[in-house]
Amino acid sequence: TKRKLWGGRFTGSTDPLMHEFNQSLKYDKRMYAADVKGSIAFSKALLKAGILNEKEQEEIARGLTLVQGEWEKGEFKIQPDDEDIHTANERRLSEIIGKDIGGKLHTGRSRNDQVATDMRIWLMDETKQVEDHLKALLMVMVSRAEKEVDAIMPGYTHLQRAQPVRWSHFLLSHAQSFLSDLDRLRQLYPRISVLPLGSAALAGNPYSLDRELLRTELDFMSIGENSMHAVADRDFIVEWLQWASLTMIHMSRMAEDLIIYSSAEFGFVTLSDAYSTGSSIMPQKKNPDSLELLRGKSGRTFGQMAGFMMSLKGIPSTYNKDLQEDKEPLFDCVDTISAALRIAEGVISTLSINPIRMKQALTMDMLATDIADYLVRKGVPFRETHHISGKAVALAENEGVQISDLKMDQWLGLSDKFEQDVMEVFDFENSIEKRNAIGGPARVMIQRQVDVARGRIEN
Ligand code: ARG
Repeated sequence: TKRKLWGGRFTGSTDPLMHEFNQSLKYDKRMYAADVKGSIAFSKALLKAGILNEKEQEEIARGLTLVQGEWEKGEFKIQPDDEDIHTANERRLSEIIGKDIGGKLHTGRSRNDQVATDMRIWLMDETKQVEDHLKALLMVMVSRAEKEVDAIMPGYTHLQRAQPVRWSHFLLSHAQSFLSDLDRLRQLYPRISVLPLGSAALAGNPYSLDRELLRTELDFMSIGENSMHAVADRDFIVEWLQWASLTMIHMSRMAEDLIIYSSAEFGFVTLSDAYSTGSSIMPQKKNPDSLELLRGKSGRTFGQMAGFMMSLKGIPSTYNKDLQEDKEPLFDCVDTISAALRIAEGVISTLSINPIRMKQALTMDMLATDIADYLVRKGVPFRETHHISGKAVALAENEGVQISDLKMDQWLGLSDKFEQDVMEVFDFENSIEKRNAIGGPARVMIQRQVDVARGRIEN
């Protein structure tokens, strides 16, 4: 007859719906490898403490490796009473090596320190992969920016044409956000990598288990200093969800720009077919679904973060079953952002730009600020030059001509400081190249951004 691992003090059986409600195996089974790894390390601490002899420890390690193999090959047979990955693996271990030895593994351990350890092991691995995806996306953005430095386009504020910039500068403006995200992600490692194992249920273990040995075996950076905190703490998950939320918000803002730029009205970029979809009714349509999903999934990620923070609020000290609610949001966010980063990399690396359309969108009035700057160089205070330039814009508008078509006598009517060389202002490339202070869109500063970014990515 089957019995639950904790069934000793129970006489009645669990309500079937309650069993289902309580069961986390359907989603936490993806941590099987982390659970096995934690258990093998734990058996070594038990050996050192004299709870296991060498033969027993070897048996446990061998059995656990077989359990892991069953998961890997998809051969692990889940039993109805398997509650979570921890009980399932231990049940199977005892079936393989026998209860006499298998039953010793959980000495001085609780699922409370076990699950917190497993989550941290699992998340460290996933974080490294997510970091790689983010680096790959950044590399693509930086390489495009370096290569396509010639393309000039309107920069917008309030979605109104503002001043000319380089396409590269625009692209790198989004890369800067992702670079901060990369920094922030890297800063999470030391707080994920704090070892709970050895804390047992809440009050620590009575076998003087060598936690330094556990730390080195599991490659953690530090050891949790308070057993009550170690089993309760899920800040590393909250921080990760917050990180993912902010990164997805950056993703969403970039996607929004590219959706606008890919519309026929703008036509600055064309998405590759690989990242577009068609319409079931309108044959001409090519929709930027990839970008819309990147934008849409930011809401989902924020929701997971907010939901889990609400689950944490008001939980008493140490372990409570509410904490099992950490898994689905975290797993979902890790999956979502991993996919999002790879899709974004694909979208950015395959889209094509249309520098002609970008150039056509530039209008001479976008150089009105440059006219003001021209007069500044002739000694007029900027506040005054701004006003004079505004008058020039209005005059051109009244005459129905471009500002660059105003005649010399019209310029002189606005200010006697104007000279023939005012015509040289009306060159978009020159306007951009004048902005060569650090952070500006001039060619040299694009290259500087590219170089600095590469350094931060490789780190
Ligand atoms: N499945 C549980 C979780 O994810 C494991 C810990 C259970 N501990 C307990 N005392 N019931 O949180």
